[in-house]
Amino acid sequence: MTKLTRRNLIRRATGFGIGGLAAYAAPRRLLADSLQPDSSLEPRGDRFGSGVYNTEQVADELRYLETNIRPSGETRGKRILITGSTAGLGQLAAAHLLHRGHRIVAHARNEQRAAEVRRDLPDLDAVVIGNLLNVEETRSLAEQINALGTFDVIIHNSGEYGLPDAEILQANSLSPYLLTVLVDTPREAMVYLTSDLHLSGDLKLEELRNGGANVNYNDSKLHLATLATALARRRPNLRVNAVAPGWVPTVMGFHNGPYAPDDLRAGYMTQVQLSERTDSISQVTGKFLFHQKEETRVHPNVYDERAQDALLTAFAKRSGVSLG
Ligand SMILES: NC(=O)c1ccc[n+]([C@@H]2O[C@H](COP(=O)([O-])OP(=O)(O)OC[C@H]3O[C@@H](n4cnc5c(N)ncnc54)[C@H](OP(=O)(O)O)[C@@H]3O)[C@@H](O)[C@H]2O)c1
Repeated sequence: MTKLTRRNLIRRATGFGIGGLAAYAAPRRLLADSLQPDSSLEPRGDRFGSGVYNTEQVADELRYLETNIRPSGETRGKRILITGSTAGLGQLAAAHLLHRGHRIVAHARNEQRAAEVRRDLPDLDAVVIGNLLNVEETRSLAEQINALGTFDVIIHNSGEYGLPDAEILQANSLSPYLLTVLVDTPREAMVYLTSDLHLSGDLKLEELRNGGANVNYNDSKLHLATLATALARRRPNLRVNAVAPGWVPTVMGFHNGPYAPDDLRAGYMTQVQLSERTDSISQVTGKFLFHQKEETRVHPNVYDERAQDALLTAFAKRSGVSLG
């Protein structure tokens, strides 16, 4: 990625002043701190959070969706849960599907972010809350989701970047695994957001089994892609796929500066199509997809059944819960 700094990102991508910069540049960890009693639950910034929790590009796309996407007469409203839907690709998929007439449950890391997504997308069915960096909050999140009944589609979209390895392991690998096991299986489809960076990843099974934490972002994305294909084999009546969205201009995409070469809309439309089941790519299961097509550049572990089984065994040992 580019050497441009986060500060330059704010100057160039949002045009915000120092106040906006301070809010945006605050480490993600501070967002979690807003659970503290003195936090204000007033939504921050303008609607869609440009320069606060979204880039200007994501905020513009959310405005575009609001004006241009309408329910289709053929659309049967589905119940869809999207993790990490307070910003970026998760919020865009949520907004698109909402405007198409589906019933969407969003997920926020805390009450502050829940207040913000309720302001941004007022027609949400509900917002469930839990920080995926925290095991107990993830378990509580699973209970909240199950209390809402069975979903048609679950999109595991949430992802952290740029945190210490132990936190990446928890938020990007162990918590999505825990949710996969603890949340009632949806009726139609599951989607796992991965990345082309998974190609440089390693499953690090020893680390997983023995309590180590030396798992980086690329490893975590290999975990998710392999979890998706493993689950697809075990749930033949469900469509389960991994999706790489490309390098797109969200807060995560701009982590190292305001440059992201891929198309933002293409980055969330695969998830929308897999949810709506409106075209041929959304009929597939057990695949690694990129921009509405099957990706050919995939780490060999992803389609290796022994590697899939070994990953599930390691996840089960580490977390204490097994996939049935
Ligand atoms: N953007 C890219 O170029 C790119 C490339 C490859 C893969 N991806 C993947 O695409 C997915 C979406 O990323 P994005 O680009 O849309 O990123 P983003 O704009 O940073 O949004 C990430 C979303 O996940 C939520 N989230 C992150 N950590 C969380 C936690 N510990 N607990 C609860 N919620 C959490 C965020 O909540 P807050 O708003 O509260 O932080 C936000 O709603 C991720 O899995 C990412 O790894 C993105």
